[in-house]
Amino acid sequence: MKGTINIKPLVHAFYIALAVFMVFLPVVVADNHEESDTETESSEAESDQEVVELEGLVIVGTRAKPRSVLESTVPIDVVLSDDFVKGEKIYMSNQSRDAEYTMGRSESETDRLIKQSQLYEDVTRRFFLRSGIAKGMKVLDVGSGAGDVALTLAEFVGAEGTVIGVDVNADILETAKARADAAGWTNIEFIAGDTRTLELPNDFDAVVGRLVLMYMADPADALKHLATHLHPGGIVAFQEVDFSPYAVAVHPDTPLINDLIKWGRTVFERSGAHVEMGMELYKAFVDAGLPEPALHFEAPMGGPEDWPGFAYLENSFRSILPLIEAYEIATTDEVDIDTLASRIQAEVAASKRPIMLPPHVTAHASLPT
Ligand SMILES: C[S@@+](CC[C@H](N)C(=O)[O-])C[C@H]1O[C@@H](n2cnc3c(N)ncnc32)[C@H](O)[C@@H]1O
Repeated sequence: MKGTINIKPLVHAFYIALAVFMVFLPVVVADNHEESDTETESSEAESDQEVVELEGLVIVGTRAKPRSVLESTVPIDVVLSDDFVKGEKIYMSNQSRDAEYTMGRSESETDRLIKQSQLYEDVTRRFFLRSGIAKGMKVLDVGSGAGDVALTLAEFVGAEGTVIGVDVNADILETAKARADAAGWTNIEFIAGDTRTLELPNDFDAVVGRLVLMYMADPADALKHLATHLHPGGIVAFQEVDFSPYAVAVHPDTPLINDLIKWGRTVFERSGAHVEMGMELYKAFVDAGLPEPALHFEAPMGGPEDWPGFAYLENSFRSILPLIEAYEIATTDEVDIDTLASRIQAEVAASKRPIMLPPHVTAHASLPT
């Protein structure tokens, strides 16, 4: 109405300022006490937490151990920790940075990646067929790891095609190169670096990746950039894990498998990975300005005593065990890593509840011609 002053923006600004003040006050006050009071720090930490709602986001300012944040019954969007104030580390559940590489970088992890690839190989092959990866194509493999996706791609594109595999981890690419040489492929090249910043050609027929967007802070932004390496009509094809189906796939309830699901998901969440990247692929494609993707969902399940998934699960937990301990999710005794495969198998046999490996969602789309 004419002559009326609209105070809504002022009230809004006041609440924002108040909320920011409330978030930082306990952190700063606690920080000032730190040097004189380090011994009592851990016992006080649990209560040293402030929760506010700001612009629809639930924000927690805390000096408490992240575990208490994890156990919060309130859905949290942002966690500002003491470390954040010191500028050393930030843990944000809404992903403003790349994930710490959850699985670690050991030799046994490289071996685990190869075994993982064998379990999901047919999922990936069917995916490439649906996506239209064909003879003679030039394909970029994002996050090559030990080279399994690149090796499969080399078969699809044949000797007349080319595969360029990129990984931030230069060491693991040595394994990938050795495997490509041993298989006799001369059309695969591996380059060390971050695919989002490396100078790469812009004439690819396809950009492909498996289990890699989940580690990137902004998958949509990454996809948008990666698509610039394609010529018109080029294919974007990504295969990612999704832990959310475990919320319903618990029939019948069995203790060890329930623990594994909880421990595994929590480690990935805490490391900053996108644990529902599979289901988020559609959004990532659309937000990147790509056409809506065609989607599929698959999960290997076990199974019989000789199913390789039991050993694979034990090895996967061996890789994440250091983080399980560091995040205080479970103790080494509770995990009892050396007997894990046989205990899972025994539980499956006794309960007749099959175990589902983490499901993968595949998404592919072609750019307009
Ligand atoms: C879980 S492994 C998957 C490897 C392979 N794609 C497969 O499915 O067997 C993820 C790989 O992505 C790599 N990676 C993560 N972020 C990356 C980035 N921004 N650019 C290149 N590689 C990246 C990691 O170093 C790791 O080797």
